[in-house]
Amino acid sequence: MAQVRLINVSKVFPDGNRAVDKINLEVENKEFMVLVGPSGCGKSTTLRMIAGLEEISEGDIYIGDKRVNDIPAKDRDVAMVFQNYALYPHMTVFENMAFGLKLKRYPKTEVIQCVKEAADILGIEHLLNRRPHELSGGERQRVAVGRAIVRKPLVFLFDEPLSNLDAKLRVQMRTEIHRLHQRLQTTIIYVTHDQIEAMTMGDRIALIRDGVLQQIGDPVTIYDHPKNKFVAGFIGSPPMNFLNGRIIKKDGKFYFDGGKMQVKIIEDMYKALFPYIGKEVILGIRAEDIYDKLFVSNAPLENVVRLNCEVVEPMGSEVYLHLNTGKNTIIARVGAHDRPQVNQDIDMVFDMSKAHFFDKDTEEAIV
Ligand SMILES: Nc1ncnc2c1ncn2[C@@H]1O[C@H](COP(=O)(O)OP(=O)(O)OP(=O)(O)O)[C@@H](O)[C@H]1O
Ligand SMILES: [Mg+2]
Repeated sequence: MAQVRLINVSKVFPDGNRAVDKINLEVENKEFMVLVGPSGCGKSTTLRMIAGLEEISEGDIYIGDKRVNDIPAKDRDVAMVFQNYALYPHMTVFENMAFGLKLKRYPKTEVIQCVKEAADILGIEHLLNRRPHELSGGERQRVAVGRAIVRKPLVFLFDEPLSNLDAKLRVQMRTEIHRLHQRLQTTIIYVTHDQIEAMTMGDRIALIRDGVLQQIGDPVTIYDHPKNKFVAGFIGSPPMNFLNGRIIKKDGKFYFDGGKMQVKIIEDMYKALFPYIGKEVILGIRAEDIYDKLFVSNAPLENVVRLNCEVVEPMGSEVYLHLNTGKNTIIARVGAHDRPQVNQDIDMVFDMSKAHFFDKDTEEAIV
């Protein structure tokens, strides 16, 4: 049985804004589910409805086998860590962590034991007597998480808990939360707008746009088989390249014709693309699926495209080439030592077995 279930859940604010629109989501017991999407897409609102901090306009939410629509937040057995978590400044770390348990009138010895246990898990035992202003950002973050885990809830809700941290600390906390999940073995629903966080942390990812769920799946499936152009462009860095053009058929073979460039489509895709012959489509191809021909032996000529190199961007372990296709600029990710001249025409190989095609009107994936 799923630990958290959302059935046709919507949120309509009093001003008529439909911030969440008929979301269906099942989060399994012990699963790490990430809700991801651009700013304003309804992630926090969804999480707040699960927590009981926001009324549900339509639909039902279940935690375990209990419908919680009318159950107040404090009785839902969930703990939430907010983006702008506020620790009580006048209390020590210990008191901050113990606060929720004291409210629930836990016996003193149990409070001490729960806080010690949580502090041990998070490696903050040595900070228990300090006050928040005596802590670094990352330590404060850990205390905020500690405050949530002392309660041993059924479900943890995290709302962009790492957004106030610098890049390095964020990467470190990312691993820590991951490890925490393995150790605690509880259900986590984690909100972020950062696709890298989503990819690296989630057992599964739910992608939301304008309040509407776009796709749910494990990170690899979402990366390899995005259901539409939005998902394809949101997940992955640099983002997937999109080229406008049309499908043409010549001597029984299918090609993508992008104006100045033409590439042959693999036969496995003919069936799906048959209705699109002569029509406009969008070709999607990731930067790592475009190679410099100099470094490829036996590249099929029908997959080679001559493009003008506008920018060479060394990233250290790799180089991004910005290439002009006539209509679009696309990015190819090549080896660290591949340094073509700027403004040079170079032959690039498209790995068409990795290509995606999208309907120009609906932007849904064709194949
Ligand atoms: N109390 C409110 N009344 C009216 N509209 C609201 C209210 N709270 C949020 N919204 C709107 O609902 C939409 C979703 O907001 P939400 O905070 O859920 O987005 P989010 O995905 O968490 O974004 P971010 O990544 O910026 O935190 C936004 O358009 C926002 O302006
Ligand atoms: Mg938010």
